[in-house]
Amino acid sequence: MRVLVTGGAGYIGSVVTEELVRDGHEVVVYDSLYKGHRAAVVAGAEFVEADLLDGESLRRAFREQGTEAVIHMAADSLVGESVTNPAKYYRNNVAAGLALLDAMNECEVRRLVFSSTAATYGEPEKQPIEETDPTNPTNPYGQTKLAFEHALPWYEHAYGIRYASLRYFNAAGATAHCGEMHDPESHLIPIILQAATGVREAVEIYGEDYPTRDGTCVRDYIHVVDLARAHILALSILDERSAIYNLGCGGDGYTVREVIDVARSVTGREIKVRVGARRAGDPAFLVASSARIKRELNWSPQFQDLHQIIESAWKWMQQHPRGYEE
Ligand SMILES: NC(=O)c1ccc[n+]([C@@H]2O[C@H](COP(=O)([O-])OP(=O)(O)OC[C@H]3O[C@@H](n4cnc5c(N)ncnc54)[C@H](O)[C@@H]3O)[C@@H](O)[C@H]2O)c1
Repeated sequence: MRVLVTGGAGYIGSVVTEELVRDGHEVVVYDSLYKGHRAAVVAGAEFVEADLLDGESLRRAFREQGTEAVIHMAADSLVGESVTNPAKYYRNNVAAGLALLDAMNECEVRRLVFSSTAATYGEPEKQPIEETDPTNPTNPYGQTKLAFEHALPWYEHAYGIRYASLRYFNAAGATAHCGEMHDPESHLIPIILQAATGVREAVEIYGEDYPTRDGTCVRDYIHVVDLARAHILALSILDERSAIYNLGCGGDGYTVREVIDVARSVTGREIKVRVGARRAGDPAFLVASSARIKRELNWSPQFQDLHQIIESAWKWMQQHPRGYEE
């Protein structure tokens, strides 16, 4: 298939591109590089450096390549920033997303896989979270992702654009070529590994008085290759129907302290922690159920062991000590 990946120079998008190219698809990465890295664009993919709001570049990319499907990864995704600067999130996650849908419609591209987020659920009443649970986002990041999702059934109804929306929490891990490098880094595993290398002095734990196994918050972590495989698998339903799928690690999740302990064992390094106060709006448990995508598409994560996930991230970090800046 000829696939255009928005945000394909970013962390997850680069791995989605890598897996698409490996499967023999023709891929165009469409990324403004405002956050991603040119060096993360996988060999074998074409690259268009442009913004989603640049409709002319989008339409040209669709027409020149004969695009048949879009995997939409480009977004802003920092929860804290979304609270202080919601305008940025409505512009990039909603307005730019709609510009993408409009260009798809004009160019008759009718298949979309959307990288949504489990932040659409907010603070869920039960765990693990299922697709039928209520969506009550507690910040503009989750709200803007949900706003874009809400447009999708209407675009399907009126213009025939089918979609698969994937909701998940924490991407983690790396491949030999692609790894995680965000600035600022807000994700737990790279933060822990930065503490292991000394780039950061310690890992801050936000509260250890939650009603969990060891008092710290429980989250699920999915290997980025498993996420990429789910995005590609989701393409396969789009001739028939649209769907929303959660993606989770398949277990009970891990506490923050458990993640730090696994990282200590993987790296063999001392990792200092500092315990601070709880952050507002941090639920004790956030674990997504993958039962539906397992049942309907036979997706199952290959890297369920957190040890393996952290090992891959650690290996990438050691081989790319300056990330993509070398
Ligand atoms: N990282 C996670 O744990 C996680 C969890 C759940 C959902 N997601 C979703 O997955 C997607 C990818 O996340 P990531 O961690 O790889 O992010 P990332 O910041 O590494 O990558 C995003 C990429 O999109 C590009 N981009 C952003 N806005 C653009 C625009 N208007 N036009 C063109 N390019 C643009 C950036 O330059 C960057 O390369 C996001 O949509 C995010 O909401 C991520």
